[in-house]
Amino acid sequence: MMLQYIIEMDKTYHMSTFGSRIPAAFTHGEGSILYDSNGKAYIDFLAGIAVNSLGYNHPRLTEAIVSQAGKLLHCSNLFYIEAQAKLAKLLVENSCGSKVFFCNSGAEANEGAIKLARKYFSSKGMYKYEIITAYNSFHGRTLAALAATGQKKYQEPFQPMPEGFRHVPYNDLTALEQAVTENTAAIMVEPIQGEGGIIEGTMEYMQGVEEICRDNGLLMIVDEVQTGTGRTGKLFGYEHFGIQPDIITLAKGLGGGIPIGAIIAAGEAANAFEPGSHGSTFGGNPLACTAGLAVMETILEDGFLESVEQKGKLFKEGLINLKNDFGFIKDVRGKGLMLGMELDESIPGKAIVNKAFEKGFIINCAGHNTLRFVPPLIIKEDEIKQLLDALREIFAEIQP
Ligand SMILES: Cc1ncc(COP(=O)(O)O)c(C=O)c1O
Repeated sequence: MMLQYIIEMDKTYHMSTFGSRIPAAFTHGEGSILYDSNGKAYIDFLAGIAVNSLGYNHPRLTEAIVSQAGKLLHCSNLFYIEAQAKLAKLLVENSCGSKVFFCNSGAEANEGAIKLARKYFSSKGMYKYEIITAYNSFHGRTLAALAATGQKKYQEPFQPMPEGFRHVPYNDLTALEQAVTENTAAIMVEPIQGEGGIIEGTMEYMQGVEEICRDNGLLMIVDEVQTGTGRTGKLFGYEHFGIQPDIITLAKGLGGGIPIGAIIAAGEAANAFEPGSHGSTFGGNPLACTAGLAVMETILEDGFLESVEQKGKLFKEGLINLKNDFGFIKDVRGKGLMLGMELDESIPGKAIVNKAFEKGFIINCAGHNTLRFVPPLIIKEDEIKQLLDALREIFAEIQP
């Protein structure tokens, strides 16, 4: 179908939540390469925003999905589901958690985590409900996840927000400590703020959050929707800090493109939900969990995470080299294959995104004028080098 016709149909029939999109419609992909409806190839450094962890048409993931689709797509959670049980086991065996609940998205995982924290305390007869999160965080678009999100611009049109959320500056332990009240149930934090512009939680901060939680009897929730499933070179972002959160939320990369979210909980929190406390029609269905299993098993293969770390190092070094040569690059941040490059305000990141797109590279802009790079985890070193060369060309046009 002609691109122009797709665009016209979209503008007529689809709610305009995504505004004017980049004028391309992709038809298929292979590895880290996407092809648009005109047959043009792009190297993808966005991966559907940190979702397509194994890239496109990954043999193991494709085979698993196709084979499962021929057997059983969905059955109710009224019955036992083999792939669900297996994926829960794999997540528990490879995390600090002990039980898992499956849902369909990041926002839903965070909603569930908020409910779990409240239920944990109400089961003990305690009225603790407040969740402290960070400014500039992003936890999702549903109402409670939105209330948790520390960015007013997303909340304003939808006031009033549900009660029970406080926001404090990220990486500020003093502010965090001062925000704890007798009603506080949990602290929810991203190990790296993704949508906020690839802002890294420091070692001192992440360990301090855990300590504040332990000292005050609070639950520590890490939102690993973007940092999880191998993105940072470890299976979970929290592993970089030697901490043990009580609740971990996942989505995005877990299904490699098939929608799935998860809440992993440890200790007593893992048993806080009782029959009837929470649920989801689609959550943990056979197709989604089969995809999750294929993704997890691949990521856990020998050498996979090491390769993410290695490629991330090479990528970051390349970005730092660019920073050394171009004065308008303010900062390079991130871990593994979750990297960001903040530009001076005089250079609109969106213009760079468009120029990269013309050259056949997909990147995007997040937070404050920050180019974000979250490619498929299977990206090749040579593909990273091609992007670095293209960025150098683009930057040289701006600052010869
Ligand atoms: C850290 C984090 N949490 C939650 C979400 C929401 O996920 P979803 O869009 O799947 O609801 C996102 C999405 O960008 C995210 O980055």
